[in-house]
Amino acid sequence: MRPIASALNTPYRPVKLGRDDIADIVALERECFAVPWSATQYHQAFGHKTFVVYGLRADGCLAAYLAYAELTREMEIFNLGVRAAHRRQGLAKALLGRVLARCAKLGVREGFLEVRASNLAALNLYGMYGFTVAGRRKNYYPDNSEDALVMRLDIPCPG
Ligand SMILES: CC(C)(COP(=O)(O)OP(=O)(O)OC[C@H]1O[C@@H](n2cnc3c(N)ncnc32)[C@H](O)[C@@H]1OP(=O)(O)O)[C@@H](O)C(=O)NCCC(=O)NCCS
Repeated sequence: MRPIASALNTPYRPVKLGRDDIADIVALERECFAVPWSATQYHQAFGHKTFVVYGLRADGCLAAYLAYAELTREMEIFNLGVRAAHRRQGLAKALLGRVLARCAKLGVREGFLEVRASNLAALNLYGMYGFTVAGRRKNYYPDNSEDALVMRLDIPCPG
């Protein structure tokens, strides 16, 4: 399992995104997901204090983003996407590590997410940080009735 702190040893410097970045985020959503969130959904989500998005820019565009809810004791990942041309370069690893390190520092102790059962890339990525499968939601995704796996992580106290 990859220690969260090791993810900070990377040349990538994720930045917090906000309402001004919604057009870029939605463009990347459309590239990454069969059922993407709309600009309206992002506007509404940014209205919640717990909604946080981190992103990485490369070659003048948004190359990766991670949207999640940051609560007092737990966090939940909603969306994580990397532009196709920038995949397998460690961007998702850097973003996820940065977010988990931030959560650990804030005292957040549990992480949750849902992922398509066939999404090997995402399963491997989350597994690297210690997320494990905690449950299965049958026929969860509306576009192809695929099952969702629920993954959970005990976020360690920062060492
Ligand atoms: C899943 C996704 C975010 C990974 O982003 P990425 O920046 O390419 O991932 P990284 O380069 O940081 O890879 C980290 C690890 O993830 C795993 N991984 C990433 N892509 C993989 C692939 N195509 N096949 C198998 N494992 C993969 C590997 O374990 C990798 O570590 P390694 O490079 O040391 O082998 C990206 O493929 C994506 O945007 N997919 C479409 C959207 C999506 O499925 N999001 C997740 C929703 S829950």
